[in-house]
Amino acid sequence: MKIAFTEWKAPKDGAALLTLTAERKLGAVGRDLDRLSGGQIARALAAAPRFKGEKGQWLEIAAPAGTTIGRLLVAGLGAADKVDALTYEAVGGEVARRLGATGDTTLAVAVEAHAGVKTGLADAAARIAFGARLGSYRFDKYRTRLKPEDKPALAAISLGVEKPDLARKAFADLDAIAAGVNFTRDLVSEPANILFPAALAAECKTLSKLGVKVEVLGEAQMKKLGMGALLGVGQGSVRESQLVVMTWEGGKKKDAPVAFVGKGVCFDTGGISLKPAAGMEEMKWDMGGAGTVIGAMKALAGRKAKANVVGLVGLVENMPDGNAQRPGDIVTSMSGQTIDVINTDAEGRLVLADVMWYAQERFKPQAMIDLATLTGAIIISLGHEHAGLFANDDVLADRILAAGKAEGEPLWRMPLSDAYDKGLNSPVADMQNIAGPAVGAGSIVAAQFLKRFVKDTKWAHIDIAGVAWSKADKPTVPKGATGYGVRVLDRLIADNYEGK
Ligand code: BES
Ligand code: MN
Ligand code: ZN
Repeated sequence: MKIAFTEWKAPKDGAALLTLTAERKLGAVGRDLDRLSGGQIARALAAAPRFKGEKGQWLEIAAPAGTTIGRLLVAGLGAADKVDALTYEAVGGEVARRLGATGDTTLAVAVEAHAGVKTGLADAAARIAFGARLGSYRFDKYRTRLKPEDKPALAAISLGVEKPDLARKAFADLDAIAAGVNFTRDLVSEPANILFPAALAAECKTLSKLGVKVEVLGEAQMKKLGMGALLGVGQGSVRESQLVVMTWEGGKKKDAPVAFVGKGVCFDTGGISLKPAAGMEEMKWDMGGAGTVIGAMKALAGRKAKANVVGLVGLVENMPDGNAQRPGDIVTSMSGQTIDVINTDAEGRLVLADVMWYAQERFKPQAMIDLATLTGAIIISLGHEHAGLFANDDVLADRILAAGKAEGEPLWRMPLSDAYDKGLNSPVADMQNIAGPAVGAGSIVAAQFLKRFVKDTKWAHIDIAGVAWSKADKPTVPKGATGYGVRVLDRLIADNYEGK
């Protein structure tokens, strides 16, 4: 989709968009169109008393007289003092989705001032465009029989705004972030027969075009490093496990990097502790943490972030097989700690244990954040509205919470404590990978397991099992893979690690 910023000029044809706050007062462009149409816009508003200009409300006016506009959409912004960047994003996402169904090929957006709105016009324009990029996302490469009329037709959006240069500049970074989010969505949507560990590693390699250094370690190298926990998980698969290290050096040489670590279970059958058949297909999404880390690296490199960031993803396939890991197997992790694998379906933590240890040994990061579709239990706790956040450092936790709030990807902090950790003690090894049924708190216990592999590093763990995909459409998040977390990580870096 082509996106352009210009000064407002009434379009020759196609669709156009106006915004209104809850005051329902037309802006300058709106008043102009109203005059040209002999008062048609004002009459349409008067005839729609339930269109109160509230957030999420839309009014459509067909072919206003005296103009060449085919379809005029009016989007509500809500109370002027509450309008923010996310409000504009939602408008952009929603309009792109609406026009996806109508067959309009072009859209002209009038970005104009409304009394009481604090967001600047250039920002508003950039955010509408950002929302359109995110909201128009589709994954239909495998739908070979889709009729042309069922495909979105919207090919170009032009945003009319006072200082188009400023808007274009504001959009450049957002466009890079949207590319990161949509890359994550692509990766998470791909089925596991196509996107197995080596194929996902090859996708990581594409980031080298943006200046990211990408290294791929195979099983032989991981064996040498002593990664028995990760390798045990992939042992039942014919696909080779991979560890990918992506390095972005945009900061000062002397600055220790921030490390992102992602769970990349390309498919999770549960292994010998096999999952039930119903819904198992969803476990192609079990590489969502890795997907987010990869998308975040793409976003950071795409906008040339002034920070050092390293992204590490452990890529495996958890399969039952004659050679698969058994319940009761004891594996030795890279940290030297031994683990009694009571349940082969609690595999994500085994993968992360080795990748996190490696990340700390090699990079001595100033902070480490891991992301994982780690537990079904987090969906019981938080549903699909918040990701679960665990951290050993309050400052880091607050930074992540703030980033999530600002980006509309909220998190909720959960507790950690020794009382939960005890449940992981084992009579035969240094620990076991699950606690007994009396402990409960599955997501916290999983986080406690990870914590046993954290040195004195500032660390946070984000359980994204409930938010990595969605069954409902939202304005900027079409149903399916959400790309959750790319924006949180990008914002975390932008606000705290770029020396601004
Ligand atoms: N990938 C799953 C977690 C998951 C479940 C994500 C449902 C999304 C939806 C993870 O590997 C897993 O199987 N966890 C087990 C842990 C249990 C065996 C302690 C779970 O949550 O049931
Ligand atoms: Mn599992
Ligand atoms: Zn899993």
